[in-house]
Amino acid sequence: MSALAFTADREERFRKLLLKYEIRQSALLPVLRLAQEQFGYLSREVMNFIATKMDLPPAHVYEVVSFYVLFHKTNPGKYCLQVCNNITCTMLGAEDLVKVIKEDLKIGPNQLTEDKTFSYMPVQCLGSCDTAPVVQVNEDYYENQTPETFRKLLAKLRSA
Ligand code: FES
Repeated sequence: MSALAFTADREERFRKLLLKYEIRQSALLPVLRLAQEQFGYLSREVMNFIATKMDLPPAHVYEVVSFYVLFHKTNPGKYCLQVCNNITCTMLGAEDLVKVIKEDLKIGPNQLTEDKTFSYMPVQCLGSCDTAPVVQVNEDYYENQTPETFRKLLAKLRSA
């Protein structure tokens, strides 16, 4: 039995999600989002917890989590910086933003700063090419970034 548990509020949301789908397994994606919201990322322990709660084979949960980039498998820290590395963003300066991450935060792709404040994840097109280059920080988009605006953003996040 897992030592993990949803908060009372999330347990309620979990139950509602199960009722929403005819086939229990169909609720897996929103349930995983719920788990990530609470635990920050989907560790092996969290995935096992969800597999038990949903009465699914753990291997099925691992497969789904590994397929979707929106699920964090390791601690993303307080702020997960997702920098688009697709063609438009690259042509308009995304590589300069990655350079800022490398130089100022001293981390590379899929790494976390020592203080666990920032992680960096290269991602494919974020669907906002007309405002490239784009960085997604957790759930929020920051568009038309330059090294200067990006440095300001990092400073603001750090002091928040
Ligand atoms: S290429 Fe970066 S948002 Fe589409």
